[in-house]
Amino acid sequence: MSSSKPSFQGRIAQLPQVQGDAKPDKLTSSASPLQLSLVIPTYNERHNLEILVEQLRQLLDRLLAHDYELIVVDDDSPDRTWEVAQRLAETYPQVHALRRQGERGLSTAVIRGWQVSRGHVLGVIDADLQHPPEILEQLWQQIERGADLALASRHVDGGGVSDWSLSRRILSRGAQLVGLILLPGVVGRVSDPMSGFFMVRRSAIAERFLDPVGYKILIEVLGRGDISWIGEVGYVFQEREQGRSKVTWKQYLEYLQHLGKLRLDLLPVQRFLRFGLVGLTGVVVDLAVFYVLRERWQLGLTRSAMLSAEVAILNNFYWNDRWTFSDLSRQQKGWRKQLKRLLKFNIVCLAGLILNVLIVNILFNLLGVNDYLAKLVAIALVTIWNFSINLKLSWRVTDVSDP
Ligand code: GDD
Ligand code: MN
Repeated sequence: MSSSKPSFQGRIAQLPQVQGDAKPDKLTSSASPLQLSLVIPTYNERHNLEILVEQLRQLLDRLLAHDYELIVVDDDSPDRTWEVAQRLAETYPQVHALRRQGERGLSTAVIRGWQVSRGHVLGVIDADLQHPPEILEQLWQQIERGADLALASRHVDGGGVSDWSLSRRILSRGAQLVGLILLPGVVGRVSDPMSGFFMVRRSAIAERFLDPVGYKILIEVLGRGDISWIGEVGYVFQEREQGRSKVTWKQYLEYLQHLGKLRLDLLPVQRFLRFGLVGLTGVVVDLAVFYVLRERWQLGLTRSAMLSAEVAILNNFYWNDRWTFSDLSRQQKGWRKQLKRLLKFNIVCLAGLILNVLIVNILFNLLGVNDYLAKLVAIALVTIWNFSINLKLSWRVTDVSDP
């Protein structure tokens, strides 16, 4: 089958809840679901594809009892890899061939394949035999154990590269490091974020907007998917026997562009603005209560300052719980959980207060910064601290499944 859709849309549909068995010879998501859809992206791989498909069939026929599909997504290769794919598709019902015209790109090819797939689990493997097919068995075991994402990694036990030059190793590790700095919460979750050999549960990425640039589809899946359990399996990246790698300096630039885009998209801008606004109301409350305690109740300076700060913290908690983090609070119902959130919030804010005093002192006494400027910088930094720590700690969703 050949098909081409001109525009790239980055959503993968949920599988329809169909019962009964539609004939699995059509590549439509309305046909009955399968266990696994494995995408093979190709560009000038006509000498590798047939060998790979043969190996995959032998392995998966046994492992999944024919309950899988292989989707070759070829970007109109000049060496006519799509012809090979179409011939294979005619011979084997498990194989589907997709010829994209007017579009290029490894990541988008993978997504395009997943979009027309009907597997509960979605996978990807390179066509050039650099990813050893037998690893799929261990990846599948990880999924069966409950992993949302099963990843073949060069950087865990049993993993490695066959014969890489020092410069290529440095480039690969350097790319990983840049990713770690820009997106620690995404890139840092796996030992081999550059891997293009993995399986992911469809439910973890269905209906999410995926919009990758370049080669590294895994980063997109990690960044935008809902993935809690990751299982890693070591593998040795094989040498290429046939054809050539398509990687040039352009892929490195695209990688940086991809990281930048994800970083911006993943910033919780709206939440942070709400948090900041609530913080401002806290300042007003703090000042007002301080005034009442001092002027009306004639309390001492320290006592007034401490009490008014605490009232402000309570005020901020109330609004953050109801507004800033309301989506998360709703998932943790009950007064006990709310009290727990309040206690954590309180501790984090008090720690923030100490941090504030510390920063002002360092800037003013050690670095000679103007005292009001020092105070402003301290407020900005502590707000970011309060926000991120509270997001991770106080409103962290742990037991969502609780009634
Ligand atoms: N459809 C399509 N379109 N496929 C492509 C394109 C494209 O524009 N570019 C590359 N491919 C296919 C290749 O034919 C091959 O099957 C696979 O994607 C990987 O491409 P290579 O050019 O061989 O990449 P590599 O050997 O440097 O591999 C690196 O990237 C992989 C990404 O999957 C390594 O980092 C691997 O670990 C990683 O798996
Ligand atoms: Mn390769």
